[in-house]
This record gives sequence, C-alpha cells and structure tokens, in this order.
Amino acid sequence: MTGLFVTFEGGDGVGKSTQAALLQEWLQGRGREVVRTREPGGTDVGERIRDIVLHYRGHVDPRAEALLYAADRAHHVATIVRPALARDAVVIQDRYLDSSVAYQGVGRVLDADEVRGLSLWATGGLLPDVTVLLDLDEASARHRLEADDKPFDRLEAEKADFHARVRAAFLALASAEPGRFLVVDAAQPIDEIAAQVRTRVAERLT
Ligand code: TYD
Repeated sequence: MTGLFVTFEGGDGVGKSTQAALLQEWLQGRGREVVRTREPGGTDVGERIRDIVLHYRGHVDPRAEALLYAADRAHHVATIVRPALARDAVVIQDRYLDSSVAYQGVGRVLDADEVRGLSLWATGGLLPDVTVLLDLDEASARHRLEADDKPFDRLEAEKADFHARVRAAFLALASAEPGRFLVVDAAQPIDEIAAQVRTRVAERLT
C-alpha cells in the first residue's frame, strides 16, 4: 500500500475534528487526495452500528459492544480505508483501534491485549502510519466542563474520573509505540497544534 493512514485519538471534545479538517485542507493544498472518515461510522453499515453503540438506550453487554466496534472497523477498513490507501490517498480518520483499547479497556471487562487483538483480526493487521493523540490535562478538561456554567453534579464528577482513566490509557498506548504516536498538548492554541501535526505528517509523506 502506498498511501498514508493518519488517525486522531483522544478524549471527547479535545478538538479531533477541528485538527482533522485543518490537516485535510493543508494536504489538499499540496495536491493530495484526502479521504476523511470516522469510527464508529463512515459507511452505511457503520452508521447503523454507530446508532446501536451510541444511541441504544438499553444495556449492551461489554463483549458485544467490543465486537460491534470491531465489526464496524472491519467493514470500514475493507471498504473505505484499504481501497483509499491502494490508490495513494491520505486517509484522515477520527478514532481507530486505540479508542477501543482505551474506552473498552477502561470498563476492565476485556484486557487491552484482547481488545487490540480483536481489532487486528478485524482489520487484517492494519495499523496507522501516524496516530495523533490530542492530550488534555486534568485542569483544562475540568475547565471545559466548568465553562458550561453549571455546578458539578454527580454525573459530571464521574465524567472527570472517567476522563482521567481514558486519558491514562491513551498515554500508555502512546508511550508503548512512540514511533507511531505523536502526543500533542490539546490545551495549546489551534494553530500551534496544527503546525505540530503537519510537521509529523510531512515527514511521512512520499
Ligand atoms: P466520537 O463520535 O468520536 O465522539 P466525540 O465526537 O464525542 O469524540 O466517538 C463516539 C464515542 O465512541 C466516544 O465516546 C468514544 C467511543 N468509542 C469507543 O468506545 N470505542 C471505539 O472503538 C470507538 C471508535 C469509539
């Protein structure tokens, strides 16, 4: 495969889609074909799976949830990502297997290696060339919650704890694979983040 596969990871609301859009604009300005996509979703089948995992109101067994994300990923990689890479496009994707390891792993029902193994089976072993982790420190995350101008309720306190555990999981993944990951402080101005992302991606462009 000749294209470049770039994924954006991080907690909810750290600015992944803003950065993905800026990178897309820059690459297109350099004449590259860019395919912007996301998980869960990105295909018709994927959007239906997305509807279950994000909007179904009843209980979904954690193993079933992990399999649903993996099923979405299998279909998405086979029908969108691999064909795009084969024609030398750059694929810019919001979330990939690291989200499964971080989020499904935080529930602690399945361990990280199992979740990763499931995704690698689903995708025939496809790993991104570059994974940008937009990392938001505790204080900034709290500040963004407080900016809502409402007192913390029990749920929001839980969210802060959840955020901390997901963040730690992502950072552990990044330190295990420093060659693939670029960790960026998401509290920085948008343009500074975009410049760091461009520098890393430029190094990998052929
Ligand atoms: P997303 O649409 O990126 O939401 P946001 O815009 O808020 O970041 O992702 C939806 C949710 O799905 C997000 O909370 C993370 C979760 N998720 C998993 O738990 N496992 C996965 O494998 C993926 C791809 C996402």
